[in-house]
This record gives sequence, structure tokens and C-alpha cells, in this order.
Amino acid sequence: MSETAKIILEGKEYELPVIQGSEGEKAIDISNLRGLSGYITLDPGYKNTGATTSTITFLDGELGVLRHRGYSIEDLAEHCSFIEVTYLLLHGELPTAQQLAEFESKITEHTLVNEGLEGMFKAFPTGSHPMGQLSSMISALSLFYPKSLNPHRGEEAINRTVLRLLAKMPTICAMIYKKRLGHPIVYPNNRLDYVTNYLNMTFGQVSDPDYTPDPVIVRAMNKLLILHADHEQNCSASTVRVVGSSQSNLYSSISAGINALWGPLHGGANQEVLEMLELIKEDGGDVTKFINKAKDKNDPFRLMGFGHRVYKNFDPRAKIIKKAADEVLEKLGVNDPVLEIAKKLEEVALNDPYFIDRKLFPNVDFYSGIIYRALGFPTDFFTVLFALGRLPGWISQWQEMRRDKEPIARPRQIYTGEPPRAFVPMDQRK
Ligand code: SDX
Repeated sequence: MSETAKIILEGKEYELPVIQGSEGEKAIDISNLRGLSGYITLDPGYKNTGATTSTITFLDGELGVLRHRGYSIEDLAEHCSFIEVTYLLLHGELPTAQQLAEFESKITEHTLVNEGLEGMFKAFPTGSHPMGQLSSMISALSLFYPKSLNPHRGEEAINRTVLRLLAKMPTICAMIYKKRLGHPIVYPNNRLDYVTNYLNMTFGQVSDPDYTPDPVIVRAMNKLLILHADHEQNCSASTVRVVGSSQSNLYSSISAGINALWGPLHGGANQEVLEMLELIKEDGGDVTKFINKAKDKNDPFRLMGFGHRVYKNFDPRAKIIKKAADEVLEKLGVNDPVLEIAKKLEEVALNDPYFIDRKLFPNVDFYSGIIYRALGFPTDFFTVLFALGRLPGWISQWQEMRRDKEPIARPRQIYTGEPPRAFVPMDQRK
């Protein structure tokens, strides 16, 4: 006998089905609540509301567990390349060597960016925010591939769009980095693997054809991109699903996701963390002063990189990145004082009742920026790297929403505005 939930409204009892996921999560299915009772539920920010069922990623916020298609993030980060995890997210299984080779080969067919798109890119103001450039470029891809606009084109057409996005995202991210420096674009080298190609386009020079990225950086970059690859129904993935649910094309759905990720409370936090650590360093390094600011309800300051909607324990990604930060900085011989400030900040916060009571722990953004900076990226570019990692997650969420034939996303509301009132002609208004 499957479990049910009973609610009593205005003296009438309603029984609603309870569903249980494969990891034991439970939900009250309210799909018919309004039809049965006329009532809706209210949950600003969807803190208690499941938008969908999904087979892609499982999180346990209490235990700090993250798995993609059943594989732990620790195993994937330790043993896989980013393109391998990309394949896993999109196809549901880890690829064989042959499947991976074919997948990477298909991607290399689409790594170049149309010269017309490059012309548009050249018009962006130098110094404009990289996330605004990225979302504009990804949205503009739909202009150059108009057949992608048809929502009813078959799987083959969708797969071509998926390959184009996976292939062009690194090229566009590298173009944005070069623009910042005023350097000429380095074109894709399709003999290189996915991440090495990205690093070559980023840090290579037209004048130095023999440039080869440091293997330490290649490994660190693969790990960082894997750690950002998907995170179930986060703000940006939900945005991609909502936009895609109107049968808008994949380019525009991903561009919307990039814009949602840009926000400082979401992916933009990795930029905010570094700016916060720099502020603490410039202010003399007194972490307790900033911990107290974060606790002060009258002070808008928040400890960026701390807290999470789901994780009420350590974000497992933060643990992996913290360890990688030590390794990468040591191997690159970088001594970044903000790393020590970050560790001190973490130690003081994790022993403070305010953070303990609210279960606020470091999240994925707390340490990632320190590695990005050690790799040579400017602070306002960090969220572009988050987007590069999250792309396969967004695409797999969008594909799942389409395959499950989910209805257009259209939440309800409770109106709290003016009651009906008579119209007031212009000459009688005060
Ligand atoms: C990402 O969802 C995902 O999966 C996202 C992500 C992904 O991979 O996609 O994991 C990536 O976005 C990580 C989060 C990056 N953002 C930040 O680091 C920004 C700082 N963190 C917060 O703003 C906050 O913790 C959120 C936005 C992450 C979560 O906010 P919630 O769940 O809405 O919680 P809340 O704002 O209601 O906070 C609960 C309490 C409040 O205090 P009280 O009203 O109970 O007294 O905790 C306090 C908050 O004031 N609080 C903080 C805090 N975060 C929460 N106080 C100080 N500093 C903080 N960072």
C-alpha cells in the first residue's frame, strides 16, 4: 500500500499521493491539489518544492554527498577527464575508450566560431563583463544556426546543437580571455584533447606555436570543470529548464542559464569570494572583524562562499577543491596570501555558533577562485569557468526535461494587491 498525505481544508479531508525516489527521498505529489481543493501551495524560492524528478544527479545535503548517474563526485574527480564526465551526464553511462574517442572527434568538427559571430564579438566594449559577453555569444549562436530554432526537429538536429555548444563554448571562453588582454585569438587545435585545447587557446600565443600547457594545470582544470559539471535543480539549471519548457531553442536556454549563474548569490560568488578575501587582506587580515560583519543583521555583508541551499554539511566539492588548491599552488610555486586568509576565515567561522547553528559551511565557490587566480585568470573571469564546467549539466537537464515531455513551467501565485476599483480619468487623478 503506497503512502499518502492527508490534509484537511475547510473541514474537508484530501488524500494526496506520496512518491519516493531511488535514494529514499519523499515528496507529496500536489499535481492535483488545485483541481481537488482550489488551494495552491506557496514556497518563495522553492526551498521546499520539487520541480521535477531526475536521474542525473543526487545530492544529500545533510551528509554532503554528490553523485552523477550513481558515481560519486570523489571518484569522478579523481579518475575521469572532464569530457568523460560530460559523456556520462549526457548519455547516462561512462563511455568506453572507443565511445569517448568518437565523442571527442565529433566535437572537434565544430570548434571554430563563425567569422560573422567573431565580428559581433569584436564590437563588445573592452573590459565589459565576461559573463555578459558569454551569454550574448551563446544566444547569438541561434542566429547563425537558424534550423536549431525549430523545437520539433528530431534527435539528430538536437545532438548537432549539443555538439556545437560543447565545441564552441571553450573557443568563445578563450576569445573572451584574449579580448581582455588585447591579444590575438588563438584558434582551436583539434589534435589536442578538450581541456588542453581550451588551455592552449587561452594561454597559448599566436607567436608561440610550440606552447604546451603544464600537465599540472591540465589535471587541475579537468578536476575543477568536473566539480562544476552539474548540481541538480540549482538556480541556473532550473532557469535552463524553465526557458526550454516553452520550446525555446537550446542556445537561448543555455544563455539564460549563464545569466542566472552570473548572480553573486549563485555562480558569481566565486568572483565575490576573491574580492572579499582581497578586501580582508587590504584591511589588515582581521578575519574576526569580517565574521562579525557577516553575523550583523544590519550589515549587508555576507561571507561569500559560505552557506548553501542544500548542503547543511560540507560541500564535498569544497573539500576536493581545498586539497587541489594546496597541491596546485605548491606545484606552481605560488604563495598566495589570500589562501591563508581563506583557511583562517574557514577555521574561525566553523567554530562560531552563528555559522554552526545555521549549518553554514564553505561551498564550491570558496576555494575555486584561489586556484583560478593561481592559473592566471582575472577575478571577473571565474564565473565563465564555472559556466564552462556547468554546460554539460545544463544540457543534460534540458534534454531530460524534453524527453520527459514536461509541460511549460508556469507557477501560480497568491494575489495581495488592490481590490476591484472604478477607473479614474486623467483629469481627476491627484
Ligand atoms: C552556488 O544551488 C546550488 O546547487 C548552487 C551551487 C551549484 O553548484 O549550482 O552549489 C553553486 O551557487 C553555491 C552558493 C554560492 N553563493 C554564495 O556563496 C553566497 C553566500 N551564500 C548565501 O548568500 C546563501 O548561503 C545562499 C544563497 C547560498 C543560500 O541561501 P538560502 O538557502 O536562501 O539561505 P538563507 O539566505 O535563508 O540563509 C539562512 C540563514 C539566514 O540567517 P537567519 O535569517 O536565519 O538569521 O543563514 C544566513 C542568512 O542570513 N546566511 C548567511 C550566509 N548564508 C546564509 N549569513 C552570513 N553569510 C552567509 N554566506
